[in-house]
Amino acid sequence: MRLLVLGGTGFVGGTVVREAVQRGHEVTCTARGVTGEPPGGVRHVRLDRDDPGALEPLAGAEFDAVVDVAAGSHPWVAEAVRTLGPRAGHWTYVSTVNVYADTATPGQSPGSELRTPLYDAANTANGDPDAYGRVNVASEDEVRDKLGDRAFVVRPGLITGPGDTMDRFGYWPARFARGGRVLAPDTPEQPIQYIDVRDLAAWIVDAATTGRTGTFDGVGQSMALRDLLEGIAAAVGVPVEMVAVPAKDLERAGVNPWSGPRSLPLWLPPSHYGLASHDARPALEAGLRPRSLHDAALGALEHERALGLDRPRQAGLSPEEERAVLKMLERSS
Ligand SMILES: NC(=O)c1ccc[n+]([C@@H]2O[C@H](COP(=O)([O-])OP(=O)(O)OC[C@H]3O[C@@H](n4cnc5c(N)ncnc54)[C@H](OP(=O)(O)O)[C@@H]3O)[C@@H](O)[C@H]2O)c1
Repeated sequence: MRLLVLGGTGFVGGTVVREAVQRGHEVTCTARGVTGEPPGGVRHVRLDRDDPGALEPLAGAEFDAVVDVAAGSHPWVAEAVRTLGPRAGHWTYVSTVNVYADTATPGQSPGSELRTPLYDAANTANGDPDAYGRVNVASEDEVRDKLGDRAFVVRPGLITGPGDTMDRFGYWPARFARGGRVLAPDTPEQPIQYIDVRDLAAWIVDAATTGRTGTFDGVGQSMALRDLLEGIAAAVGVPVEMVAVPAKDLERAGVNPWSGPRSLPLWLPPSHYGLASHDARPALEAGLRPRSLHDAALGALEHERALGLDRPRQAGLSPEEERAVLKMLERSS
C-alpha cells in the first residue's frame, strides 16, 4: 500500500508511520521538520501547512490511503481533501471526543449531539475554549462531505503510550515507580478511558488496508479511575500507600484536575465524566484491539524513564508539591 501520513513525525502520526513501515508499506509523510524526523525508508516531504498551496508538491500523486493527524485547522483539512482527496483510495481523519456537545453524560457514541462547527478557523481561534472541538466538527464534516464513501473518522479521547507529549497518563506509572505515599483523588464514581497509541495506530493501518469506513470513538473500555490507578500501581510493582483525598479537599489545596501544572492528571470534575466514558463497543466491533492495562502502564513507564522521572512535567505534581499538599491536608484534618 502507498500510504501518505500528513503530520507523520509526531505522537500519533509517527506511530502510524512506524506501524505501516513495519508491515512493509510504502510510506510518505509531510511535516515541517520541527517535531522530529520519520524513520529510515520513509519519504519526508517538508512543508508548512500554514503556507498557501502547501500541499502542491503532492498534487497529482496517487496514494492508496491518506491519514491526516495534523488536525488543528479546518483550512488545512479542507486543502488536503481538495488537493489529495480525488486520487486517494482511503482517507483517515484523526479527530477527538471533544467534538461532542455534552461533556457530562456517560455512554455517548458517534450519533450523539456535536458542537457547532467552526469553519475557516484554527483551534487557537478567538480565545474560544471550545474551538478545538468545534474546528474538529468542521473538519470531520469536510472529510465526510467530500470523501464519505472512503472516509474513516476516528475520535480518540485520552491517548497514552511511547511518544506521549501530554504527560497525563504517564504521571501515574512514573509516580508509582517512586514509591511512598501517593496523593490520589478519592472519586470512586469517576470513569476514565484511554487508548494506547500503538493500538490506535494498528487500527488505523488496518482500516486503511481493509478499506474500513465510518465514524468511531477511538477509545478503550471505560473503567473506574480508582481501578485504573490500582491497575497501574500493580503493573509498576513498587509498594505504595495510596492517600485518596476527596475532590473538595484537593480543590482547597489548589490542586487542578485533568492536566497541566499542579494537577492530579486524569482526575475529572463530574461535568466532564462524559468525555471519559464513551461507548467503546462500536470501535471494538470494528477491530480496535486495546492491549491490557498492565501492558499500557509498562509502555508508558518505559517512555517516562526514557524522558527522565525527575524532569519538570507538563502535567502533575512535583514531589515537593505533593509533599506540601499531603502535609497541608494532614494539618487541616
Ligand atoms: N494526544 C492526545 O491525547 C490526543 C487525544 C485526542 C485526539 N488527539 C488528536 O491526535 C492528533 C495528533 O496528535 P499528536 O499528539 O500526534 O500531535 P503531534 O505529536 O503534535 O504531531 C503533529 C504532527 O503535525 C506536524 N505539523 C505540525 N504543524 C505543522 C505545520 N504547520 N505544517 C505541517 N505539519 C505540521 C508535526 O510535524 P512538524 O512539527 O515537524 O511540522 C507532527 O508531525 C491531533 O489532531 C489531536 O487532535 C490527540
